[in-house]
Amino acid sequence: MSSFYKLIALVTLVSKSTCDEDAFLYDVFPSGFQWGFSSSSYQIEGAWKEDGKGIHIWDTFVHRIPSPIPDKSNADIGCDSYHKYDHDVSLLKYIGAGVYRFSLSWTRILPMGRIDYINPAGIQYYNNLINLLLANGIEPIITLHHWDLPQPLQDLGGWPNEEVIQNFIDFANLAFHTFGDRVKKWVTFNEPNVMCMHGYITGTHAPGHKNINQAVNCIRNVIKSHARVYRLYDRVFRPYQGGKVGMSLFSYWLEPKDPKNPAHQKVAEYWMQIMWGIFAFPIVFGDYNEETKQLLGKFKKFKLTSSPIEFTLEESVEIKGSYDFWGLNHYSTFLVEPSKVITSIVHGDLTGLVLGIKISTDPNWPESAKYDLTIVPWGFRKMLNWIREGYGSPEIYITENGYPDSPQTGLEDVARVKFHRDYINQMLKAVKIDGVRVTMYTAWGLLDCFEWYFGYTVNFGVVYVNHSDPERPRTPKLSSSCLQQIFAENGFPQTSFPLLKIG
Ligand code: BGC
Repeated sequence: MSSFYKLIALVTLVSKSTCDEDAFLYDVFPSGFQWGFSSSSYQIEGAWKEDGKGIHIWDTFVHRIPSPIPDKSNADIGCDSYHKYDHDVSLLKYIGAGVYRFSLSWTRILPMGRIDYINPAGIQYYNNLINLLLANGIEPIITLHHWDLPQPLQDLGGWPNEEVIQNFIDFANLAFHTFGDRVKKWVTFNEPNVMCMHGYITGTHAPGHKNINQAVNCIRNVIKSHARVYRLYDRVFRPYQGGKVGMSLFSYWLEPKDPKNPAHQKVAEYWMQIMWGIFAFPIVFGDYNEETKQLLGKFKKFKLTSSPIEFTLEESVEIKGSYDFWGLNHYSTFLVEPSKVITSIVHGDLTGLVLGIKISTDPNWPESAKYDLTIVPWGFRKMLNWIREGYGSPEIYITENGYPDSPQTGLEDVARVKFHRDYINQMLKAVKIDGVRVTMYTAWGLLDCFEWYFGYTVNFGVVYVNHSDPERPRTPKLSSSCLQQIFAENGFPQTSFPLLKIG
């Protein structure tokens, strides 16, 4: 190729790699790309006091009087997946999922949270689920902890107490030992950034505390727990089980309100580095990033925390590189700009982390039923590229991505169809054009079940669940056919049929 044509090719490549917000890309994902759904034990299982299960912090939280949940509901029954897991597996198979990420209920397995008493019914339940998934050609992926900490461990102080680390290691060890012959992908923690923030700063999630020092210790202890469990797997289980271990983090994309204004750029980057980096940076590089150190430094200055800002050398060595993949849970995008006012704005999952920034959305972005969570597919592509550029181009699993609508929407969930189609298309651009190493997509969620804090007032499922019928019947919505098609075609080949052309 002459140098002129090389130049043209380069220019085409470069112009292609900017985030084009409009053009739809008809192409498929690399072969071997995995598709499926994610769930969590508390939200779907129900059977909160059955077969020897112990009580965890969400059981306690939702039964408080007055109820902290706006619709006063709870997940005592949830989607009753403890009894109906076979229905769920049939649905997964029907939609064509190749993977299913679910979380273990710690107190179903260890009712008191400690290793000294193992509940055989809990082990049996997860063995049944895993075996049924495998028999249907669906790979099980386990999240060890999706927020439902055993109450007896909370009574010791919960995640802010360092003692809990050993309990988590014992639980993880048991899980690897018991299920690791069949489970090859493990997520240690689901969104510890949300767990520590809402559990210990805003108090809108269990255990409902408002204490920055506890939040900072929660973050620290989760990072240490994650690293020690990763090393345990590496040393003891990986040699013969050959699986992978990582963590799933929640992250919005924060876009500078005025993309050309350096102050807006700076504040967006700063809060991205807190939201994603507070956990990811130490795990990739062995220490808190400068942004986190600065934030914790401020907390210290105002005597809001006494937690150390540095890791010891020994801790740092253990933490650095303790991941085989990153799980990204991504839902939406916000616009940010600096603000002189120190605010704690209730903006969904950004609450409490927000100090000195103003956040907003573009009125043109389509809305959803949860907060002002809007549909901004191009933010997903930017988010993925940001991780690739700043965090060593890791392998990424999309462990959650989904759209909340109101229970009145019914089965014709056209907005969700559009959401998944457009977000997945941006992910396709990130993979095929930008070279981001995404190898899996699991949608949130399969079923309409209990939503943290919101109860049953918003739905994420591609399958409708009738919660007024004791049988909790499940009916696939339009969006399940959309995902069925995308999964089957591994993306959007030129020949895609018209369903995907909605909107
Ligand atoms: C959580 C899920 C939750 C979803 C939708 C994530 O923060 O991991 O458990 O249901 O978002 O809000």
